[in-house]
Formats: sequence, C-alpha cells, structure tokens
Amino acid sequence: MSTAGKVIKCKAAVLWELNQPFSIEEIEVAPPKAKEVRIKILATGICRTDDHVIKGAIVSKFPVIVGHEATGVVESIGEGVTTVKPGDKVIPLFVPQCRECNACRNPEGNLCIRSDIAGRGVLADGTTRFMCKGKPVYHFMNTSTFTEYTVVDESSVAKIDAAAPAEKVCLIGCGFSTGYGAAIKTGKVTPGSTCAVFGLGGVGLSVIMGCKSAGASRIIGIDLNKDKFEKALALGATECISPKDFTKPISEVLSEMTGDTVKYTFEVIGRLETMVDALASCHVNYGTSVVVGAPPSAKMLSFDPMLLLTGRTWKGCVFGGWKSRDDVPKLVTDFLAKKFDLNQLISHVLPFKKINEGFELLYSGQSIRTVLTF
Ligand SMILES: NC(=O)c1ccc[n+]([C@@H]2O[C@H](COP(=O)([O-])OP(=O)(O)OC[C@H]3O[C@@H](n4cnc5c(N)ncnc54)[C@H](O)[C@@H]3O)[C@@H](O)[C@H]2O)c1
Ligand SMILES: [Zn+2]
Ligand SMILES: [Zn+2]
Repeated sequence: MSTAGKVIKCKAAVLWELNQPFSIEEIEVAPPKAKEVRIKILATGICRTDDHVIKGAIVSKFPVIVGHEATGVVESIGEGVTTVKPGDKVIPLFVPQCRECNACRNPEGNLCIRSDIAGRGVLADGTTRFMCKGKPVYHFMNTSTFTEYTVVDESSVAKIDAAAPAEKVCLIGCGFSTGYGAAIKTGKVTPGSTCAVFGLGGVGLSVIMGCKSAGASRIIGIDLNKDKFEKALALGATECISPKDFTKPISEVLSEMTGDTVKYTFEVIGRLETMVDALASCHVNYGTSVVVGAPPSAKMLSFDPMLLLTGRTWKGCVFGGWKSRDDVPKLVTDFLAKKFDLNQLISHVLPFKKINEGFELLYSGQSIRTVLTF
C-alpha cells in the first residue's frame, strides 16, 4: 500500500540535548511539501561533523536528527518536483545546489545560499517534517539521515545510478567527496608536488586519495594516532609521522624532511592550532594550505600575518568544492568505473540501531568510517 501523501511512522536516532547518546525513537515523518522529497534511507555513514553537533562545536537546535552522509531511495515527491521520482536511488546533499543563487551561478562557487550553515534546522519553508512525542524535531544541514525516512528540499538531493551499492556510495555524500575534492578541486594539487595531510580520519584519507590521483610524488600523513598510518600508506601516503615524536614545531620537521618543498597542506582535524600549523608548514612563498576540518563555532584564531605576507595562500572548502547536484552523480559513475576505491575507507558496518556503538568506535579511534545499514 502506497505511503505517498501519508504521515510515516518509523524509527530515528534522536538527539534530545547536548552530550547525550542517541535515543532510538518512533517518529512521525510528514509527507513532502511542494519542491520537497521524502527519502527512505538505505545506508548512512558516521562523520566527525555529526559528533560536532553532539559536543556543541557546531551549533544546532534540539531535539535534532543528525546524519548527512547517506544513500536512499525516493519514497514520494511533493508538488512541482521534476528532478527525481519515486523509486530513484539518491544521495541527500548537505550542500544544496539551487542553480539560481550567486554561488551556484559562479563556475568557482559551490556554497549554495540554501546551505544550512547557521543551524536553522528547518526546511526552506521554515518548518520541520519530523515529530517525536508531540514535539517538532529539527533537521540537520538539509539532510538528517539517522532515520528510516527523511524529507529534504529538491535542491538537496541527487539521483544516482541505480546499480551503485548503497552501503559504499553513501561516503560520496560527505567524507570521500570532501577530502578528494579538497585536494583536486580546491588545492589543485599538481603532479610531482609534495603534500602534507594533518588528520587521517575518513576525510583526511580521502585527501590522500585525491593528492595521489593528482600525481603528487610525496604525501606525508600526520596523526597523533599511529594506528591510522597503515591505511594512509595503503591509500597513497609515502610516509607518516606523529607530532608526539618531535619536540620542535611540525612545520620545521616537515621542512627538514622535504628540503623545504611542501607545496600543499591540508588541515583535516578541525582544531585551531593545527590550522595554523598547517599554514606554517606549506612553503613560505608558493605554498597553499586548505582548511577542511570544521572549526569549533564562535572561536577566533590569532596567527602571525607574516605567514601570508610572504606569499602563502590560505583557503578552505565545504564539500570539497563540488557543485553537489551536478557532481555527485558523476562521482558515483567514477566509483562504478573503479576510478577510486571506497572499500578501504569503510572499517565497520553496523545495523542502524547500533548507532551509539558506531560513535564509540569513532571516539576510541578504531574506526575510519562506520556505515549504518537499515
Ligand atoms: N569542510 C567540510 O565540508 C567537511 C566535511 C566533512 C567533515 N569535515 C570535518 O573534517 C574533520 C575530519 O573529519 P573526519 O570524519 O575525518 O574525522 P576523524 O575524527 O575520523 O579524523 C580526525 C583525525 O585527526 C586526528 N587528530 C586529532 N587531533 C590531532 C592533532 N592534534 N594532531 C594530529 N592529528 C590529530 C585523529 O586521531 C583522527 O585520526 C572534522 O572536523 C569534520 O567535521 C569537514
Ligand atoms: Zn561529513
Ligand atoms: Zn544555490
């Protein structure tokens, strides 16, 4: 029996307040309004950005359903939706692409004006589609994928090849694309160059994959957790170091290791100190440093402007600079054509109801990406 047009009762992992575990609840998901799409989630990855909401490093309203790295199938569509239809396999997009705003129209831009960077927690019409225990539950970055069903704006969903394996390509919804794009689109890593990647989680390892595919000849992975080195080396890092093994600043260590030739650095942790370390570690004159890690909200950074005066470039990107609706289907096609491998990034697969276990694996440093299946 069709569920279109009806409220769906299903299970979701609700965060009721800061610093609390997820609570699996029965929620009500309203039908999609005009220009909205209701999606049945098939698989969703756990990204550090979801944890930033739990810890308050990213501002959100509560209760909220987080999760933003997923694959699903369209259950029903609202009035006026033309780009997807029921039954389509899709990836929800935490960076929308409305194709009308200034950033969408600029060939260099990707941060659509409809992105919910400010944490409004509602869809375009200013309301939520989720109810739990009689209370509205907020959305997260236009996606909210830790639920059996979600509703997103049409600008926040891309149709992908039906043959794509849901439990793998969900990583194209955030971690893989963010890191890979940071290297090839934002950093524009050149063949033969030397790169240093700070942070070897799922996103940092994807930066390494991007540096490698761009032809970098030397890729240095940096992490406090040496357990991450094996995977980094398997994915293309040429060497790995831990800052714990040195007393001098990491920028000096890298300069000595490479004869002062680090052209690109990437901060993929989300800490203010390592953002400055990464900037100082790229070449004093022609180096480029890319901020990928999400900084803690409302925190200010102080740094010596001489780091920039001498010629360095400091930039950042959201979702690897990809134009989401245009590029996500192409990345899925590239995955199916074996242009890159997502398997190495997936360390654990768990049933959705074990979501708290999945976050424990992140906290203990054991996981790269845990994929939750429904
Ligand atoms: N810009 C974007 O669009 C975007 C998208 C996704 C994720 N992110 C952000 O990217 C960051 C990384 O995400 P992830 O899912 O890979 O996280 P993760 O937690 O899996 O990986 C972070 C890694 O950094 C290491 N680390 C922590 N402190 C360190 C330090 N002081 N020095 C060296 N290494 C250190 C950890 O051991 C870990 O391996 C997060 O801040 C996340 O919010 C940004
Ligand atoms: Zn993410
Ligand atoms: Zn736009």
